[in-house]
Amino acid sequence: MSVFLSVFLCFTAAIISSAWADFDVIGEQPLSKIAIHKTVLALSDSASIGAYPSLLGSKAEDTQWVTVNLVSPDPSVDDWVGVFSPAKLNSSTCPPVDDPKGRNKPYICSAPIKYKYANHSNSNYSKTGKTTLKFKLINQRADFSFALFSGGLSSPKLVAISNSISFANPKAPFYPRLAQGKTWDEMTVTWTSGYDISEATPFVQWGITGDRKTLSPARTLTFYQNDMWLSCKNCWLA
Ligand SMILES: *[C@@H]1O[C@H](CO)[C@@H](O)[C@H](O)[C@H]1NC(C)=O
Ligand SMILES: *[C@@H]1O[C@H](CO)[C@@H](O)[C@H](O)[C@H]1NC(C)=O
Ligand SMILES: *[C@@H]1O[C@H](CO)[C@@H](O)[C@H](O)[C@H]1NC(C)=O
Repeated sequence: MSVFLSVFLCFTAAIISSAWADFDVIGEQPLSKIAIHKTVLALSDSASIGAYPSLLGSKAEDTQWVTVNLVSPDPSVDDWVGVFSPAKLNSSTCPPVDDPKGRNKPYICSAPIKYKYANHSNSNYSKTGKTTLKFKLINQRADFSFALFSGGLSSPKLVAISNSISFANPKAPFYPRLAQGKTWDEMTVTWTSGYDISEATPFVQWGITGDRKTLSPARTLTFYQNDMWLSCKNCWLA
């Protein structure tokens, strides 16, 4: 049996990650309520947000729960915490636009991949300004940071940014998929990895248990962040 292979090298795009958020009602994406491009800076020295553990997947897990501790000097019921990946979220990561002076440049050009209201696990947060939230993260190839916002989802004010945390091996191959090939004696194995073709040679070792194994080279298809960005440029401006 011949094996037909392909590999998808997937470079992290913030846009891709929105695929793991849940949909509320058909057609309404909860993340779409966040007017992230309107974010204004309101960083406060007495506010803090910290996430741990800082190293995820140390036992080769591809998902892990993360604990986020919050302290806000000025808590409110509509404070929320957004998860960002890649972790770096200021405007230095914005793609170049036709606006040389950067007048209309938003402070944050990425978008949170998940969020929770700060009062999610403790309704006393709006009085005490202290709480702990838990987030389940998947290895999606980039590091993560958490940001505390006030002002609700519609006029976010960035109050504090956490340390960044990451998976031990952000490039590890995951999610093997098996499918029938194009002909009756072909089988397709697909997986997703963060390795560039210049860093690692993808192949599959296969055969009957106990028998000699055959190595089959794999074909790759690479997507870059810009591939996503261009096709979805106006998605969040609506
Ligand atoms: C938590 O915050 C949300 C959003 O502001 C609010 O609708 C909800 O009533 C709050 N819950 C409690 C228990 O304060
Ligand atoms: C963005 O953050 C980096 C440090 O992470 C800093 O050097 C840079 O000046 C910041 N850029 C803006 C526009 O705030
Ligand atoms: C919230 O505050 C009330 C009254 O102070 C207290 O009884 C309760 O245990 C607190 N809840 C949490 C989750 O800390």
